[in-house]
Amino acid sequence: MTTPDTTITVGSPEFLADPHAHYAWLRTNAPVHRGRMAYMGEQDVWLVSRYEDCRLLLADDRFLRSPGEQGPAMLAGFPDSVREPIRLMTTSNMILMDDPGHRRLRKLVAKPFTPRAIDRISGRVDELSHGLLDELEPLGRVELRERFALPVPATVINEMVGVPHADRERFGRGMNALVTGMARLGQESWAREMNALTELVRELIEHKRSEPGEDILTGLIQAEEDGDRLSEDELVAMVFLLVTAGYETTYNLITNAVLTLLDHPDQLARLRAAPDDEALWRSAVEELVRYGGPIGGTKPSTTVEDVTWHDTTIPAGATVIPVLAAANRDPAAFDDPDTFDIDRRPNAHLGFGHGVHFCLGANLARMETRVALRALVRRNPNLRLAVDRSELALEPMPFWTRYEELPVHLG
Ligand code: HEM
Repeated sequence: MTTPDTTITVGSPEFLADPHAHYAWLRTNAPVHRGRMAYMGEQDVWLVSRYEDCRLLLADDRFLRSPGEQGPAMLAGFPDSVREPIRLMTTSNMILMDDPGHRRLRKLVAKPFTPRAIDRISGRVDELSHGLLDELEPLGRVELRERFALPVPATVINEMVGVPHADRERFGRGMNALVTGMARLGQESWAREMNALTELVRELIEHKRSEPGEDILTGLIQAEEDGDRLSEDELVAMVFLLVTAGYETTYNLITNAVLTLLDHPDQLARLRAAPDDEALWRSAVEELVRYGGPIGGTKPSTTVEDVTWHDTTIPAGATVIPVLAAANRDPAAFDDPDTFDIDRRPNAHLGFGHGVHFCLGANLARMETRVALRALVRRNPNLRLAVDRSELALEPMPFWTRYEELPVHLG
């Protein structure tokens, strides 16, 4: 891995065997690196891995989110059946937009995610976590990822968005297809699931128009800024974004958090001994995001002109990804970056991104993780892995830290 002409392929089996060794190599030897990404074949991607550079990039308007003219060209490569769901997900989705279009959408959706709004639902998250543990604990051995880490954030975001109980299973299936992606399902079944999901969201919008509720979707339908409203396509894309971002990330954070704490029994013991030390729990969650957060890189940006950094020129039109997971272990930004330390303060990690696209749901994710973990740890003093640590494998998804499963013994 260490020759000067190495090309790092993010998501390759070699990479997945030890992502942090690759990140360290990038930071030291090639802070701006023309690499590859293994997803549905291989693609070129420029990787930026140092902390300061990632922050600069995310605030630099020479790097644009919107695929611009490449968007329609990308669509042309897909069969008709797949084009409509891709069009919906890429043209009205604020995470793939630049200002002012991005700012307009973000403003319309921001209210339910303020710290005060999130505090108000922490009791509900506590109740959900304890309810799940009541069911799971008698079983002894459980697969924690699907049985606990997933249903907490999935139920919360469904309730926040306003998805009725009767539709949750259909909805969950579609959302699963959305996040699993075309690479896993194949184009045809992915398109089928996505079209069914779009249909369901359009029905839901219709329903909320006639019977408004106290939920985000109703809020978005009614939201108006200076006479401006969201179009139906924008509503559909926003529901897709909120629900996928709302559970996919947090459920992997909770899974990774449990594993990180089991790997560091001294730190786990400190948390267990201090269930009411709010400041410690908050700093522990920040450190869990820095050390093992689920997202290793942001959505790709495109350079609008040649950009030269560290004697390397990224050409105009190139795809660039700031590698957040590498930045979060940069020794120039964090003391002993490979040490997991729940007392680390300050901790200005990039696990929730940076700049205008900084995670909208960061307060929600932090609260859910804190509340769910606290319930789990308090009630299960003998929590332990049910398989050998070496059997836990990462899913082959570039820029994600997702374990395939987390079998544990509760008790
Ligand atoms: C954006 C991480 C949970 C909603 C982001 C970004 C990151 C991130 C890194 C920036 C992406 C980029 O620049 O391309 C995480 C992590 C989470 C989490 C690690 C949990 C552990 C949530 C939750 C929601 C959410 C619970 C709730 C709805 C969003 C949205 C954006 C976003 C809407 C796009 C914001 C924009 O484009 O302005 N998140 N997220 N996230 N996140 Fe999260």
